Amino acid sequence: MKPIKVGLLGFGTVGGGTYQVLTRNQEEISRRAGRRIEVAAVCRRDLAAARTQVGEGVRVVADPMDIVRDPEIDIVVELIGGEGVARDVVMAAIAGGKHVVTANKALLAVHGNEVFAAAQARGVMVAFEAAVAGGIPIIKALRESLAGNRIEWVAGIINGTTNFILSEMRAKGLDFEGVLKEAQRLGYAEADPSFDVGGVDAAHKLTLLSAIAFGIPVQFERAHVEGIVGLSSVDIKYAEQLGYRIKLLGITRRRDELGGIELRVHPTLIPSQRLIANVEGAMNAVMVQGDAVGTTLYYGKGAGAEPTASSVVADIVDVTRLATADPDHRVPHLAFQPDRMDATPILPM
Ligand code: HSE
Repeated sequence: MKPIKVGLLGFGTVGGGTYQVLTRNQEEISRRAGRRIEVAAVCRRDLAAARTQVGEGVRVVADPMDIVRDPEIDIVVELIGGEGVARDVVMAAIAGGKHVVTANKALLAVHGNEVFAAAQARGVMVAFEAAVAGGIPIIKALRESLAGNRIEWVAGIINGTTNFILSEMRAKGLDFEGVLKEAQRLGYAEADPSFDVGGVDAAHKLTLLSAIAFGIPVQFERAHVEGIVGLSSVDIKYAEQLGYRIKLLGITRRRDELGGIELRVHPTLIPSQRLIANVEGAMNAVMVQGDAVGTTLYYGKGAGAEPTASSVVADIVDVTRLATADPDHRVPHLAFQPDRMDATPILPM
């Protein structure tokens, strides 16, 4: 069987990490996928820098459309981020019949219904494990491992930058700005860090978790969003004296009495002895309550090059298996229901 060919769009922190993982573990990854996986092309504006990062035989381009239009490429991996160029290339890739793997939570939280409707119509897959909670396999857990449950709620720490900031402020008494700079240096923060500290990044991820957990369309605009910008070291110290830690939580749950689903992101006081209160640094943790399984907890690195690459590569493996299966017997890849409007999320407050 001929190898599956991957094109990487975006060669920054996550793109570079994905290339490293794919090449370092290529034999094992290909064996698991049941087919050889090869990176055929990468896209980076700085062509000279990109050439020093990839092996011979990997095409290096500056225009993402060169990869999207390349008939040799089977899977387009979108790691550009944002809603501009990324949206154009994802929609063009789908229209061209290519499968898409993306880590782009902003794109999917805001335009997911359009993206998934187009993918369904064209019979291609859009996989996005890396878009939520970095290396934690929470999308697959909700979609597959917990598929037998009626999900009651999902709640967690889903932004590494803000958790890192809150942890450092508490442990070292550091100020907000200094710790944010460190988070940027470590590659955790978004290109626009106001998305992290303002709670928007967590709300993007929560929107995707909610859609998967409850089988509803993405409705980011209905989420209640509050970040950590107003918090000071003094707030954190007082909370600690009272036996609490402050965490930025994303919470989505059924509100049957109100006929909908709630989505909210805000700083939350959590008793210090709780497991989730002790999740520190850029780590993420997601709790899921299902009617059969009870409460489960997923913990791991929520940001960074290789933890996020781990999820990107898992999706490439997943898509390779599905793309290789007989099209008439493919199980739909997503539990998303972009056209189901009866379980409309509500504003919580
Ligand atoms: N800025 C994000 C975070 C990166 O800090 O969690 C991973 O999505």
